[in-house]
Amino acid sequence: MPAIRPHGLARVLFWLAPRWRDPGWIAFALNRLTGAILVLYLLVHMVVLSRLAAGPSGWNDLLAIFGSQPFLVGDTLLIAAVVFHALNGARVAALTVGYGVRHSGRSVALVITGSAGLAALASWGILFR
Ligand code: HEM
Repeated sequence: MPAIRPHGLARVLFWLAPRWRDPGWIAFALNRLTGAILVLYLLVHMVVLSRLAAGPSGWNDLLAIFGSQPFLVGDTLLIAAVVFHALNGARVAALTVGYGVRHSGRSVALVITGSAGLAALASWGILFR
């Protein structure tokens, strides 16, 4: 018998169902989000670097943007995404060899607080020093 898939609002409610509150699912969703952000960043990074081919004047204009406050805020958010993805990646790798399987809630909490702490340290260094 084919599986019944909900449609419309029922589909949204299905997505919000309590199983999503399981720490492992939250970490999975954040890992996918941060993975997509990293891929996007890589593409933007290559486009921006290609501006080097236009010579020093084009690059100097970009440097002014790189030093602007909104850009630096974006930088710290990117660092938060990188740190979370890396720490959670290590958590997932540890799971595959049997570490943290019984305490996934604790390991997810450790990854989230560790990422938040490191990102806060980075934002202090970038924005407030
Ligand atoms: C310290 C470096 C990194 C580590 C340890 C790491 C680790 C991982 C792991 C373990 C997964 C699979 C998670 C799972 O099966 O639940 C994953 C997924 C992924 N990673 Fe990374 N990664 C790293 C860097 C990157 C970078 C630099 C990018 C992008 C340029 C990236 C993009 C992605 C994407 C798009 C996925 C798929 C997400 C999904 O389909 O749910 N990762 N990463």
